[in-house]
Amino acid sequence: MRVRREPPKGTVIGFAFSVASCSLSWQDQVMACHHDLAQVDIYEKLPVPFGLVRFGVAPDHPEVKNVINTFTHTARSDRCAYYGNVTVGRDVTVGELQQAYHAVVLSYGAEDNRVLGIPGENLSGVYSARAFVGWYNGLPENRDLKPDLSCETALIVGHGNVALDIARILLSPLDFLRTDITDCSLAALACSKVKRVWLAGRRGPLQVAFTIKELREMINLPGTQPVLNPADFTGLENAVKDAPRPRKRLTELMVKTALEKPREKAAMVQAAIPRLWGLKFQRSPQEVLPTPDGTRVRGVRMALTRLEGLGESAKAVPTGDVEELECGLVLSSIGYRSLPLDPAVPFDTQHGVIPNSSGRVMGVPGLYCSGWVKRGPVGVIITTMNDSFDTAQSVLEDLQGGVLDVSVSREGFGAVGSILHSRGIRPVSFSDWEKIDAAEVARGKAAGKPREKIVDPQEMLQLIGH
Ligand SMILES: Cc1cc2nc3c(=O)[nH]c(=O)nc-3n(C[C@H](O)[C@H](O)[C@H](O)COP(=O)(O)OP(=O)(O)OC[C@H]3O[C@@H](n4cnc5c(N)ncnc54)[C@H](O)[C@@H]3O)c2cc1C
Ligand SMILES: NC(=O)c1ccc[n+]([C@@H]2O[C@H](COP(=O)([O-])OP(=O)(O)OC[C@H]3O[C@@H](n4cnc5c(N)ncnc54)[C@H](OP(=O)(O)O)[C@@H]3O)[C@@H](O)[C@H]2O)c1
Ligand SMILES: *[C@@H]1O[C@H](CO)[C@@H](O)[C@H](O)[C@H]1NC(C)=O
Ligand SMILES: *[C@@H]1O[C@H](CO)[C@@H](O)[C@H](O)[C@H]1NC(C)=O
Ligand SMILES: *[C@@H]1O[C@H](CO)[C@@H](O)[C@H](O)[C@H]1NC(C)=O
Ligand SMILES: *[C@@H]1O[C@H](CO)[C@@H](O)[C@H](O)[C@H]1NC(C)=O
Repeated sequence: MRVRREPPKGTVIGFAFSVASCSLSWQDQVMACHHDLAQVDIYEKLPVPFGLVRFGVAPDHPEVKNVINTFTHTARSDRCAYYGNVTVGRDVTVGELQQAYHAVVLSYGAEDNRVLGIPGENLSGVYSARAFVGWYNGLPENRDLKPDLSCETALIVGHGNVALDIARILLSPLDFLRTDITDCSLAALACSKVKRVWLAGRRGPLQVAFTIKELREMINLPGTQPVLNPADFTGLENAVKDAPRPRKRLTELMVKTALEKPREKAAMVQAAIPRLWGLKFQRSPQEVLPTPDGTRVRGVRMALTRLEGLGESAKAVPTGDVEELECGLVLSSIGYRSLPLDPAVPFDTQHGVIPNSSGRVMGVPGLYCSGWVKRGPVGVIITTMNDSFDTAQSVLEDLQGGVLDVSVSREGFGAVGSILHSRGIRPVSFSDWEKIDAAEVARGKAAGKPREKIVDPQEMLQLIGH
């Protein structure tokens, strides 16, 4: 961000956000509303904007992506500019941005994933949820993943909403998916042989991380049957009597489903390929087992666990017993992970976050953070949005309190643009993105989809005449 001084009008002093994302756009909005001399520039690594709203949110949840309209409104403000295809920390350093702007907010999300750290994790047939999601959502980096869907049983490790997203994508009737999923992944899913999906969590039903709306959607998915073992839920209704309401309702839904007679029973028996999914509890993956020729996964050895402690903070401790689960596909959905992006920025590697106080990066005045890189890789869009309001508030307070020295004008993109030019980097503007957007929508129309994403950055480049 930089702050314009008057007079002369248009001389820039202000702010710059270093990275685009949904949280960022929201921050822009708060800034724009609350400081009418602020100029906000957004730098984004990919040519196209919107982060996980475009590349994370499931294709069969188009309504969630409506938030893009809000971001677009912000980006079109004449006090906001978008510079896509600029990797901060590589193409331009955080130090260079700080020279050019009065304030810099880091909002670059979580680009990596946690790993299980067990033998066999790298066998073929094992994928991170992040890569799999990137693949079906057209993230350029994952466009060539070509996951092998030729087996009948898949195991998803983790009990979060991302795990449920993946289970749903694997088992959904294809008609549910004809939204903005990529053509190539839709074709692969059409040939998929997967008909059983297990979701394994290391803790119990009272510790699942997914939420009720998403679980209910899975339970009601046409053509599929939930398989929950009633024994896993014995006594739980009692145990959650005093739990917070969301946890109570979520548990009650699982109990009810476990005790229900199988739905569509007659139809299931007749159906040639019934699709099943189920939750497995207190199972922590110990080793991914290879086929005899050692080339790919044939199953996972799970350590059975018992819980120490109560409620959400209970810990899973191995009992010493193990169980082997046969599967040809393993998806590790145990959370995303932020990475440090520049040696000049403090980073807490243990927690994978930037140390901060209300978004102020510890020890670096004028530098702020927001979103998943600030709080860790949890929270829905509204959580992230709320959180970015707090960071924006901190910036405004520092502006008012004189912590940010705006007496000297800063050149903003005037300076950064020259640096990028000298390094052969050509940023993508928001109107460039709008050309790509229009092309995607046009391509989608032919196939009856809201858009067909362009997954090859070179193709984007051609479209915008770079
Ligand atoms: C698979 C999945 C599904 C989800 N589904 C939902 C849902 O249905 N509903 C919901 O409310 N929430 C959902 N969420 C959560 C939501 O996506 C997040 O809360 C939110 O997107 C986090 O925002 P962020 O700005 O921190 O990160 P991001 O959205 O990841 O944005 C970070 C941006 O920074 C860019 N970037 C990274 N490194 C650099 C760099 N060095 N230089 C420049 N730019 C960089 C990235 O390309 C990205 O565009 C989902 C999350 C995931 C992972
Ligand atoms: N529809 C939606 O609203 C939607 C969709 C997708 C994502 N999101 C949001 O995005 C955020 C990220 O979702 P997420 O699913 O990636 O993360 P998450 O909610 O944090 O879930 C991660 C899961 O992985 C497990 N796990 C972590 N480390 C493990 C290990 N070493 N071994 C075994 N299991 C391990 C966790 O179990 P423990 O609890 O035991 O650690 C947990 O069940 C969440 O806030 C989610 O709600 C929302
Ligand atoms: C898997 O591969 C990565 C990168 O090649 C490596 O860092 C990691 O140690 C490997 N993990 C295992 C369990 O072999
Ligand atoms: C950064 O701020 C968030 C929210 O304000 C907080 O949850 C987190 O613990 C802080 N991180 C550090 C390392 O200070
Ligand atoms: C977001 O903030 C509003 C207003 O403070 C609050 O009512 C709401 O519960 C918050 N939502 C989340 C998901 O944190
Ligand atoms: C993005 O920049 C790189 C150089 O860093 C360039 O090779 C690529 O073509 C650019 N892409 C677009 C879409 O402009």
